[in-house]
Amino acid sequence: MPRYFDCKKLNKKLHLLFQVPISKYAVTLLSIIAIHRLFTSCNVYNYPSVPREQLTDAIYTATVPQLAEKRTKPDCPYDHILQSKEKLQTWEVPKSSKDIGNFSAWGIKDGSYTPEHCQPLFSVAILVTYRNRQRHLDIFLPYMHNFLRKQNIHYKIFLVEQLDNKPWNKGMLYNIGAQRALAERFPCLLLHDVDLLPLAASNLYVCMDQPRHLSASIDKFRFVLIYDYLVGGVLAMRADHYVRVNGFSNNFYNWGGEDDEMADRILSNNLKILRFPREMSEYSMMTHTHEPVNRARETIIKENKIQGHKDGLSSVRYESLQVKAQRLCTWIGVKL
Ligand code: BGC
Ligand code: MN
Repeated sequence: MPRYFDCKKLNKKLHLLFQVPISKYAVTLLSIIAIHRLFTSCNVYNYPSVPREQLTDAIYTATVPQLAEKRTKPDCPYDHILQSKEKLQTWEVPKSSKDIGNFSAWGIKDGSYTPEHCQPLFSVAILVTYRNRQRHLDIFLPYMHNFLRKQNIHYKIFLVEQLDNKPWNKGMLYNIGAQRALAERFPCLLLHDVDLLPLAASNLYVCMDQPRHLSASIDKFRFVLIYDYLVGGVLAMRADHYVRVNGFSNNFYNWGGEDDEMADRILSNNLKILRFPREMSEYSMMTHTHEPVNRARETIIKENKIQGHKDGLSSVRYESLQVKAQRLCTWIGVKL
Protein backbone atom coordinates (compact mmCIF):
# COMPACT_ATOMS: atom_id res chain seq x y z
CA MET A 1 0.00 0.00 0.00
CA PRO A 2 1.47 3.41 -0.96
CA ARG A 3 2.34 5.63 1.96
CA TYR A 4 0.39 8.88 1.95
CA PHE A 5 1.33 11.99 3.82
CA ASP A 6 0.97 11.37 7.53
CA CYS A 7 -1.05 14.29 8.94
CA LYS A 8 -0.84 12.93 12.41
CA LYS A 9 2.94 13.15 12.37
CA LEU A 10 2.80 16.70 11.01
CA ASN A 11 0.39 17.75 13.73
CA LYS A 12 2.80 16.36 16.26
CA LYS A 13 5.67 18.31 14.76
CA LEU A 14 3.64 21.52 14.62
CA HIS A 15 2.71 20.94 18.20
CA LEU A 16 6.40 20.71 19.10
CA LEU A 17 7.11 23.81 17.05
CA PHE A 18 4.66 25.87 19.04
CA GLN A 19 6.37 24.84 22.21
CA VAL A 20 9.58 26.67 21.23
CA PRO A 21 9.88 29.91 23.23
CA ILE A 22 9.07 33.10 21.31
CA SER A 23 12.65 34.45 21.54
CA LYS A 24 13.83 31.57 19.34
CA TYR A 25 11.33 32.64 16.66
CA ALA A 26 12.68 36.15 16.87
CA VAL A 27 16.23 34.89 16.40
CA THR A 28 15.16 32.72 13.44
CA LEU A 29 13.25 35.60 11.86
CA LEU A 30 16.18 37.98 12.26
CA SER A 31 18.54 35.39 10.75
CA ILE A 32 16.25 35.00 7.73
CA ILE A 33 16.15 38.78 7.28
CA ALA A 34 19.96 38.97 7.60
CA ILE A 35 20.49 36.22 5.02
CA HIS A 36 17.98 37.90 2.68
CA ARG A 37 19.77 41.26 3.09
CA LEU A 38 23.10 39.59 2.40
CA PHE A 39 21.80 38.11 -0.85
CA THR A 40 20.15 41.31 -2.03
CA SER A 41 23.31 43.33 -1.30
CA CYS A 42 25.29 40.63 -3.16
CA ASN A 43 23.45 41.69 -6.32
CA VAL A 44 24.79 45.19 -6.04
CA TYR A 45 28.14 43.90 -4.86
CA ASN A 46 28.41 42.30 -8.32
CA TYR A 47 27.12 45.34 -10.20
CA PRO A 48 27.18 45.26 -14.04
CA SER A 49 30.59 46.33 -15.36
CA VAL A 50 32.72 46.27 -18.49
CA PRO A 51 34.76 43.04 -18.30
CA ARG A 52 38.50 43.43 -17.81
CA GLU A 53 39.26 41.93 -21.26
CA GLN A 54 37.04 44.52 -22.98
CA LEU A 55 38.37 47.61 -21.22
CA THR A 56 41.02 48.44 -23.81
CA ASP A 57 38.27 48.95 -26.41
CA ALA A 58 36.04 50.95 -24.08
CA ILE A 59 38.55 53.55 -22.86
CA TYR A 60 38.73 56.97 -24.48
CA THR A 61 42.13 57.65 -26.02
CA ALA A 62 42.92 61.38 -26.24
CA THR A 63 45.60 63.79 -25.10
CA VAL A 64 46.05 67.55 -25.00
CA PRO A 65 46.97 68.84 -28.51
CA GLN A 66 50.53 69.81 -27.45
CA LEU A 67 51.31 66.15 -26.69
CA ALA A 68 49.63 64.82 -29.83
CA GLU A 69 51.73 67.16 -31.99
CA LYS A 70 55.16 66.05 -30.83
CA ARG A 71 55.20 62.28 -31.11
CA THR A 72 58.78 61.08 -30.93
CA LYS A 73 58.61 58.19 -28.44
CA PRO A 74 56.92 54.78 -28.70
CA ASP A 75 53.37 54.60 -27.31
CA CYS A 76 53.18 53.87 -23.58
CA PRO A 77 51.90 50.40 -22.64
CA TYR A 78 48.70 50.08 -20.57
CA ASP A 79 47.75 46.41 -20.76
CA HIS A 80 49.95 45.38 -17.86
CA ILE A 81 48.25 48.04 -15.72
CA LEU A 82 44.74 46.88 -16.63
CA GLN A 83 45.75 43.28 -15.97
CA SER A 84 47.52 43.98 -12.67
CA LYS A 85 46.25 42.12 -9.60
CA GLU A 86 48.17 44.37 -7.21
CA LYS A 87 45.89 45.83 -4.55
CA LEU A 88 46.16 47.43 -1.14
CA GLN A 89 43.87 46.44 1.70
CA THR A 90 41.97 49.12 3.60
CA TRP A 91 44.24 48.77 6.64
CA GLU A 92 47.34 49.30 4.49
CA VAL A 93 46.51 52.84 3.31
CA PRO A 94 48.20 55.72 5.13
CA LYS A 95 46.23 57.06 8.08
CA SER A 96 48.34 60.19 8.50
CA SER A 97 50.95 62.05 6.46
CA LYS A 98 53.62 60.33 8.63
CA ASP A 99 52.64 56.97 7.08
CA ILE A 100 53.49 58.26 3.58
CA GLY A 101 57.22 57.84 4.25
CA ASN A 102 59.79 59.67 2.16
CA PHE A 103 57.74 61.19 -0.60
CA SER A 104 59.70 62.44 -3.56
CA ALA A 105 58.07 64.83 -6.02
CA TRP A 106 60.27 63.72 -8.96
CA GLY A 107 58.82 64.59 -12.36
CA ILE A 108 55.94 66.64 -10.91
CA LYS A 109 55.41 70.31 -11.70
CA ASP A 110 52.24 72.36 -11.07
CA GLY A 111 50.56 69.10 -10.01
CA SER A 112 51.24 67.63 -13.44
CA TYR A 113 53.27 64.65 -14.62
CA THR A 114 54.09 63.34 -18.10
CA PRO A 115 55.80 59.97 -18.58
CA GLU A 116 59.34 60.42 -19.81
CA HIS A 117 60.19 57.27 -21.69
CA CYS A 118 57.05 56.76 -23.75
CA GLN A 119 54.27 58.65 -25.48
CA PRO A 120 51.19 58.83 -23.23
CA LEU A 121 47.85 58.13 -24.92
CA PHE A 122 45.78 59.88 -22.27
CA SER A 123 45.67 63.37 -20.75
CA VAL A 124 43.52 63.64 -17.66
CA ALA A 125 42.60 66.71 -15.60
CA ILE A 126 41.91 65.62 -12.02
CA LEU A 127 39.63 68.14 -10.32
CA VAL A 128 39.51 67.99 -6.54
CA THR A 129 37.06 70.19 -4.64
CA TYR A 130 38.24 71.26 -1.23
CA ARG A 131 37.66 73.20 1.95
CA ASN A 132 39.19 72.80 5.37
CA ARG A 133 40.42 69.20 5.10
CA GLN A 134 44.18 69.67 5.51
CA ARG A 135 44.58 66.22 7.09
CA HIS A 136 43.08 64.59 3.97
CA LEU A 137 45.04 66.73 1.56
CA ASP A 138 48.36 65.87 3.22
CA ILE A 139 47.66 62.21 2.51
CA PHE A 140 45.74 62.59 -0.76
CA LEU A 141 48.33 64.49 -2.81
CA PRO A 142 51.40 62.30 -2.19
CA TYR A 143 49.31 59.10 -2.29
CA MET A 144 47.74 60.05 -5.62
CA HIS A 145 51.02 61.09 -7.22
CA ASN A 146 52.62 57.80 -6.16
CA PHE A 147 49.62 55.93 -7.56
CA LEU A 148 49.32 57.91 -10.81
CA ARG A 149 52.98 58.12 -11.76
CA LYS A 150 52.88 54.33 -12.27
CA GLN A 151 50.07 54.59 -14.82
CA ASN A 152 51.91 55.98 -17.86
CA ILE A 153 49.31 58.73 -18.27
CA HIS A 154 49.72 62.50 -18.57
CA TYR A 155 47.71 64.05 -15.75
CA LYS A 156 47.34 67.28 -13.81
CA ILE A 157 45.75 67.75 -10.39
CA PHE A 158 43.70 70.94 -9.94
CA LEU A 159 42.70 71.68 -6.36
CA VAL A 160 39.64 73.94 -6.30
CA GLU A 161 39.25 75.50 -2.87
CA GLN A 162 36.20 77.39 -1.64
CA LEU A 163 37.70 80.32 0.27
CA ASP A 164 34.56 81.90 1.73
CA ASN A 165 32.40 80.82 4.66
CA LYS A 166 29.23 80.49 2.61
CA PRO A 167 27.62 77.06 2.46
CA TRP A 168 29.72 74.49 0.57
CA ASN A 169 28.95 74.28 -3.16
CA LYS A 170 30.77 71.33 -4.69
CA GLY A 171 29.02 71.46 -8.08
CA MET A 172 30.04 75.06 -8.64
CA LEU A 173 33.64 74.32 -7.63
CA TYR A 174 33.76 71.48 -10.16
CA ASN A 175 32.44 73.80 -12.88
CA ILE A 176 35.12 76.38 -12.05
CA GLY A 177 37.85 73.72 -12.18
CA ALA A 178 36.39 72.41 -15.44
CA GLN A 179 36.55 75.87 -17.03
CA ARG A 180 40.28 75.93 -16.34
CA ALA A 181 40.87 72.35 -17.53
CA LEU A 182 38.88 73.03 -20.71
CA ALA A 183 40.96 76.17 -21.31
CA GLU A 184 44.08 73.98 -21.04
CA ARG A 185 42.38 71.65 -23.56
CA PHE A 186 42.19 68.52 -21.43
CA PRO A 187 39.98 65.98 -23.24
CA CYS A 188 39.06 64.09 -20.05
CA LEU A 189 37.94 65.40 -16.64
CA LEU A 190 38.14 63.30 -13.52
CA LEU A 191 36.09 64.67 -10.62
CA HIS A 192 37.56 63.41 -7.37
CA ASP A 193 36.64 63.57 -3.68
CA VAL A 194 39.63 64.46 -1.51
CA ASP A 195 38.85 61.69 1.00
CA LEU A 196 38.94 58.74 -1.42
CA LEU A 197 42.05 56.67 -2.09
CA PRO A 198 42.08 54.04 -4.87
CA LEU A 199 43.28 50.60 -3.78
CA ALA A 200 43.80 48.67 -7.04
CA ALA A 201 46.79 49.37 -9.31
CA SER A 202 44.58 48.31 -12.28
CA ASN A 203 42.19 51.22 -11.71
CA LEU A 204 43.52 53.17 -14.69
CA TYR A 205 42.67 56.85 -14.30
CA VAL A 206 41.22 57.52 -17.75
CA CYS A 207 37.86 58.35 -19.30
CA MET A 208 35.73 55.82 -21.15
CA ASP A 209 33.63 56.46 -24.24
CA GLN A 210 30.72 57.05 -21.84
CA PRO A 211 30.81 58.67 -18.38
CA ARG A 212 32.60 56.38 -15.95
CA HIS A 213 31.94 56.03 -12.23
CA LEU A 214 35.20 54.90 -10.62
CA SER A 215 34.42 54.63 -6.91
CA ALA A 216 31.86 51.83 -7.11
CA SER A 217 33.25 49.82 -4.23
CA ILE A 218 34.10 51.87 -1.12
CA ASP A 219 35.08 50.35 2.24
CA LYS A 220 32.71 52.76 4.04
CA PHE A 221 29.77 51.16 2.15
CA ARG A 222 31.09 47.61 2.78
CA PHE A 223 32.40 47.61 -0.83
CA VAL A 224 28.84 47.60 -2.12
CA LEU A 225 27.45 49.91 -4.81
CA ILE A 226 24.62 51.56 -2.86
CA TYR A 227 22.50 52.38 -5.91
CA ASP A 228 22.97 51.95 -9.65
CA TYR A 229 22.89 55.65 -10.63
CA LEU A 230 25.41 56.68 -7.97
CA VAL A 231 28.14 58.82 -9.57
CA GLY A 232 29.43 60.46 -6.37
CA GLY A 233 33.00 60.03 -5.15
CA VAL A 234 35.07 59.70 -8.31
CA LEU A 235 33.61 60.30 -11.78
CA ALA A 236 35.42 60.54 -15.13
CA MET A 237 33.80 62.32 -18.06
CA ARG A 238 35.01 63.21 -21.50
CA ALA A 239 35.33 66.99 -21.66
CA ASP A 240 32.82 67.17 -24.56
CA HIS A 241 30.29 65.18 -22.51
CA TYR A 242 30.79 67.49 -19.52
CA VAL A 243 30.02 70.44 -21.78
CA ARG A 244 27.08 68.61 -23.37
CA VAL A 245 25.36 68.02 -20.03
CA ASN A 246 26.21 71.60 -18.97
CA GLY A 247 28.39 70.42 -16.10
CA PHE A 248 27.07 70.27 -12.55
CA SER A 249 24.20 72.32 -11.23
CA ASN A 250 25.25 75.37 -9.19
CA ASN A 251 22.07 75.15 -7.13
CA PHE A 252 23.20 72.65 -4.51
CA TYR A 253 24.48 74.03 -1.24
CA ASN A 254 25.76 71.95 1.70
CA TRP A 255 26.08 68.16 1.49
CA GLY A 256 24.49 65.87 -1.08
CA GLY A 257 22.44 65.78 -4.24
CA GLU A 258 24.70 67.44 -6.83
CA ASP A 259 26.02 64.04 -7.90
CA ASP A 260 22.53 62.50 -8.18
CA GLU A 261 21.51 65.49 -10.29
CA MET A 262 24.58 64.91 -12.49
CA ALA A 263 23.40 61.30 -12.98
CA ASP A 264 20.07 62.76 -14.14
CA ARG A 265 21.90 65.01 -16.64
CA ILE A 266 23.95 62.08 -17.94
CA LEU A 267 20.96 59.79 -18.41
CA SER A 268 18.70 62.45 -19.90
CA ASN A 269 21.40 63.20 -22.49
CA ASN A 270 21.28 59.54 -23.55
CA LEU A 271 24.66 58.82 -22.04
CA LYS A 272 25.37 55.77 -19.91
CA ILE A 273 27.19 55.23 -16.64
CA LEU A 274 29.97 52.67 -17.07
CA ARG A 275 32.13 51.01 -14.46
CA PHE A 276 35.25 48.87 -14.20
CA PRO A 277 34.81 45.51 -12.45
CA ARG A 278 34.46 45.61 -8.69
CA GLU A 279 37.91 44.30 -7.82
CA MET A 280 39.40 47.19 -9.85
CA SER A 281 37.12 49.83 -8.32
CA GLU A 282 37.88 49.56 -4.61
CA TYR A 283 38.53 52.69 -2.56
CA SER A 284 39.21 53.55 1.02
CA MET A 285 37.43 56.60 2.45
CA MET A 286 39.23 58.66 5.06
CA THR A 287 37.00 59.43 8.03
CA HIS A 288 35.51 62.91 8.45
CA THR A 289 32.58 64.90 9.74
CA HIS A 290 29.91 65.96 7.27
CA GLU A 291 28.87 69.35 5.96
CA PRO A 292 25.19 69.94 6.92
CA VAL A 293 22.87 67.76 4.82
CA ASN A 294 20.89 69.45 2.04
CA ARG A 295 17.34 68.34 2.79
CA ALA A 296 15.97 70.05 -0.31
CA ARG A 297 18.08 67.98 -2.69
CA GLU A 298 15.27 65.84 -4.13
CA THR A 299 13.17 68.94 -4.83
CA ILE A 300 16.05 70.77 -6.53
CA ILE A 301 16.72 67.75 -8.75
CA LYS A 302 13.08 67.85 -9.91
CA GLU A 303 13.04 71.64 -10.44
CA ASN A 304 16.30 71.57 -12.40
CA LYS A 305 14.91 68.88 -14.67
CA ILE A 306 11.83 70.97 -15.41
CA GLN A 307 14.09 73.89 -16.31
CA GLY A 308 16.03 71.69 -18.75
CA HIS A 309 19.31 71.81 -16.80
CA LYS A 310 19.94 75.38 -17.96
CA ASP A 311 21.84 76.11 -14.79
CA GLY A 312 25.36 74.67 -14.83
CA LEU A 313 28.75 75.15 -16.46
CA SER A 314 27.29 77.88 -18.68
CA SER A 315 26.00 79.94 -15.76
CA VAL A 316 28.76 79.85 -13.11
CA ARG A 317 29.14 83.10 -11.18
CA TYR A 318 31.70 83.83 -8.49
CA GLU A 319 33.13 86.81 -6.66
CA SER A 320 36.85 86.24 -7.16
CA LEU A 321 39.35 83.63 -8.35
CA GLN A 322 43.09 83.13 -7.92
CA VAL A 323 45.33 80.49 -9.47
CA LYS A 324 48.69 79.43 -8.03
CA ALA A 325 50.99 76.82 -9.46
CA GLN A 326 52.23 74.72 -6.56
CA ARG A 327 54.46 71.67 -6.80
CA LEU A 328 51.83 69.01 -6.09
CA CYS A 329 48.78 70.76 -7.53
CA THR A 330 47.55 73.76 -9.44
CA TRP A 331 45.58 75.56 -6.77
CA ILE A 332 42.44 77.52 -7.68
CA GLY A 333 41.08 79.59 -4.79
CA VAL A 334 37.52 80.86 -5.25
CA LYS A 335 35.16 83.12 -3.36
CA LEU A 336 31.63 82.26 -4.41
C1 BGC B 1 23.32 61.94 -1.70
C2 BGC B 1 24.54 61.87 -2.58
C3 BGC B 1 25.59 60.97 -1.95
C4 BGC B 1 25.00 59.62 -1.65
C5 BGC B 1 25.98 58.68 -0.99
C6 BGC B 1 22.82 60.55 -1.41
O1 BGC B 1 21.74 60.60 -0.52
O2 BGC B 1 22.31 62.70 -2.33
O3 BGC B 1 25.05 63.16 -2.78
O4 BGC B 1 26.70 60.81 -2.81
O5 BGC B 1 23.86 59.76 -0.82
O6 BGC B 1 26.48 59.17 0.21
MN1 MN C 1 33.32 61.54 1.98
